[in-house]
Amino acid sequence: MTSKSATRPKGVAVLGSTGSIGTTALRVLDRQRQRFRVTALTANSNAALLKEQVRKFAPEFVGMVESNADCHDAWKSGTAALVDAATREDVDIVLNAIVGVAGLDATLAALEKGKRVALANKETLVIAGDLVKKVCASGSGEVIPVDSEHSAILQCIAGRATSDIRRVVLTASGGPFRDWSKDRLETATIDDALRHPTWRMGRKISIDSATLANKALEVIEAHFLFDLPYDRIEVVVHPQSIVHSFVEFVDGSVIAQMSVPTMELPVLYALTHPERVVDDGVPPFDPIKLSPMTYEPVDHGRFPALRLGISAGIAGGAAPAVFNGANECAVAAFLAGKIRFTDIPGAISSALDKLGGLASSSREDLLAADAAARHHVKEVFKC
Ligand SMILES: NC(=O)c1ccc[n+]([C@@H]2O[C@H](COP(=O)([O-])OP(=O)(O)OC[C@H]3O[C@@H](n4cnc5c(N)ncnc54)[C@H](OP(=O)(O)O)[C@@H]3O)[C@@H](O)[C@H]2O)c1
Repeated sequence: MTSKSATRPKGVAVLGSTGSIGTTALRVLDRQRQRFRVTALTANSNAALLKEQVRKFAPEFVGMVESNADCHDAWKSGTAALVDAATREDVDIVLNAIVGVAGLDATLAALEKGKRVALANKETLVIAGDLVKKVCASGSGEVIPVDSEHSAILQCIAGRATSDIRRVVLTASGGPFRDWSKDRLETATIDDALRHPTWRMGRKISIDSATLANKALEVIEAHFLFDLPYDRIEVVVHPQSIVHSFVEFVDGSVIAQMSVPTMELPVLYALTHPERVVDDGVPPFDPIKLSPMTYEPVDHGRFPALRLGISAGIAGGAAPAVFNGANECAVAAFLAGKIRFTDIPGAISSALDKLGGLASSSREDLLAADAAARHHVKEVFKC
């Protein structure tokens, strides 16, 4: 006999519900209402879209960090709303689709409460990977990745031991500037950088994809998620974004996970893992139509942010938090028209040189390193 609680739909909090991943997640959750119920939604400031989502999903909790005149009286405001949403009794899974360091506390709080965190907010793991792992190890909280590359690795590894893995290879589309010369990159505009060839995403990750800083964040994320040393994590450019990652095992066998480029699949899998459930949101896989699938090496000369991030990961301590903070600040400055596209890696490098060795033993240390990196970039670039 099946108990009522065993069949109750799982409660899901979608943090960052108005963003690219948040709206994707709500499409998935709308189709999967027999399994999941949206119990909490949060946004930063987009009250109009949040209101529409509240009408459709009727969550018990709604939070908006920057409250304004359009907010409903019952909505919670301020950053505490994120932690409130993530720690509610009626929430089983926290889908963290917030962009940047703002997602950190909600992830840690949810894990402390023993929840599953379906993590799109990769910055959380980059800034505080050791801390996140410690919290997971001390309780029943777990992180399941939403990033398509890490979802692919999780599916390829399928429970095998780390010692069975020779290396993992993350794929990168190469971004909008894959074919641009170093000189032409100097002229890149905001619109050029936001024009991603295969994915439609939020503004910050679109710029990260154009600099390849996104791939650096993902290498660090893979290191923490799968307990792999950096010399067993590689990156290859695969412009079609069909293969999401390869895992090579010690016997030489390579398993890859593929799909047409859609975030609906990794979002769904992060909610249902290790189960696979019927869902019609993903277009059919047709190897003929998807041919050819090609691969090329990363050009580190044109895209130095990748190596900077990997070096920060290898250095450990506060360096990944400095890498992330400097990158977030430089990307915001670029999107505000204050610095050039090619200034972004320079800003990261300068912050790492000055601040990479800061203390890192607590959440407070890491947030201080993040703040120092932002301050440094603002000072150096007067932005
Ligand atoms: N987009 C993708 O395909 C993709 C793929 C893999 C991983 N990711 C990762 O997923 C995360 C979200 O990316 P995205 O592309 O969905 O970003 P996005 O479209 O910019 O959405 C960000 C969401 O976070 C909210 N938000 C922004 N700043 C916040 C703050 N300070 N406090 C609380 N909430 C805040 C936004 O609210 P408002 O709308 O009110 O501003 C929005 O709901 C990032 O870490 C990204 O790297 C994204």
